[in-house]
Amino acid sequence: MNKPLVIGVAGLGTVGAGVLQMLEDNADLVTGRAGRPIRVAAVCARSRNKDRGLSLSGIDWEQDPVRLAARPDIDVFVELIGGEEGPAKQAIEAAIRAGKSIVTANKALLAVHGNGIAVAAEAAGVTLRFEAAVAGGIPVVKSLTESLAGDRVLRVMGVMNGTCNYILTRMESTGKSYGEIFAEAEGLGYLEADPTLDVGGIDAGHKLALLASIAFGTKVDFKGMEIEGIERISIGDIEQAGDMGYRVKLVCVSRISDQGLEQRTQPCLVPANSPLGQVEDATNIVVLEGERTGPVFLRGAGAGQGPTASAVLGDIIDIARGRKISTFGQPADTLRPAKPIRVAAMVPYYVRLLLVDRPGVLATVAAAFGDAGISINRLRQYGHADKAAPVLIVTHPTGRTELSQALDAIRSSGVSVNDPVAIRIEEV
Ligand code: HSE
Repeated sequence: MNKPLVIGVAGLGTVGAGVLQMLEDNADLVTGRAGRPIRVAAVCARSRNKDRGLSLSGIDWEQDPVRLAARPDIDVFVELIGGEEGPAKQAIEAAIRAGKSIVTANKALLAVHGNGIAVAAEAAGVTLRFEAAVAGGIPVVKSLTESLAGDRVLRVMGVMNGTCNYILTRMESTGKSYGEIFAEAEGLGYLEADPTLDVGGIDAGHKLALLASIAFGTKVDFKGMEIEGIERISIGDIEQAGDMGYRVKLVCVSRISDQGLEQRTQPCLVPANSPLGQVEDATNIVVLEGERTGPVFLRGAGAGQGPTASAVLGDIIDIARGRKISTFGQPADTLRPAKPIRVAAMVPYYVRLLLVDRPGVLATVAAAFGDAGISINRLRQYGHADKAAPVLIVTHPTGRTELSQALDAIRSSGVSVNDPVAIRIEEV
């Protein structure tokens, strides 16, 4: 029998407990695939007495994750505590100093401190893997670092926060308001302890920042990301977008050009019949667009015990097999600094206007778009409501500067009752 790989697991919440359970349930399968047994030497969590439905017999209990990370008998430190600062960070740093490889699901920590941690890990000759940090059970980190390693990646995009997608899907199917469905999601336990991480787009932004680094060979740059959450999406936005053949999704998009790196997480319209448009409820989808490969669609469970524990276990097995891959797919000290730009490509926009009811207002709007060099693709007017006319416009692809010019002209012309609303349309 080959020497076991010995691990220490910090954090026995949903994912940590799932990892221990899978190691027990799938012991033979895991040993066969890893080429050696995987043994848990010690664990640590906030509460020792909590009933997790797990047998911890034969496993040491440590009070302090930093101590666990540096135990002489472990080969791999599995960090499932979470949080961008505090014990998770201290323990990972301690593991690196002690020469232990690391598996983590901590997207926030890596999005904020990933460059420094990766440089330190590689200088110490240890491996750091994080498949579970991005889209739960979907093998997207491996797809980028391994399968697409030879192709030039042009775009990474996706729907990477299940909670937001659940809220938007339920608003559409029930016709209820954001507030009502938010309360429903909260009741189901979908929201993170700090709900802003989900509905504010931050969780999805963390995931995109990690993928962009691997895809484009740039340093992780979460600060350079434009982020907007779903809090201001109204049922009206969803219904009117639906009427034009679109659905509202919290979309993550990153592209690189000679000007720099575009990274944005924001509500966008996607064609209802497109792969992104058809992602329902808490499902995630990630699209990796390679120059030679074309678009690759990865779709599945972005959270939950089984999928996330499976991703953690896959990383542990890779380390047991002796695989060594740089954290972000190339040595961390060769990653280029990212230069943030707002838009790397022209996209179509959906514009919602409420126009005053008098002759010539549509001509004024058409002139505002025309003068800005924007071509209108589709236009729909919904009669008149209280003497104002709701009008929806879908433009051909345009730049943001041109769009701002057109909207400013509409505002100053006095033909619009409300501030115009413009939402990007992303197509695959
Ligand atoms: N809260 C996340 C989601 C899962 O709703 O997708 C963990 O990132």
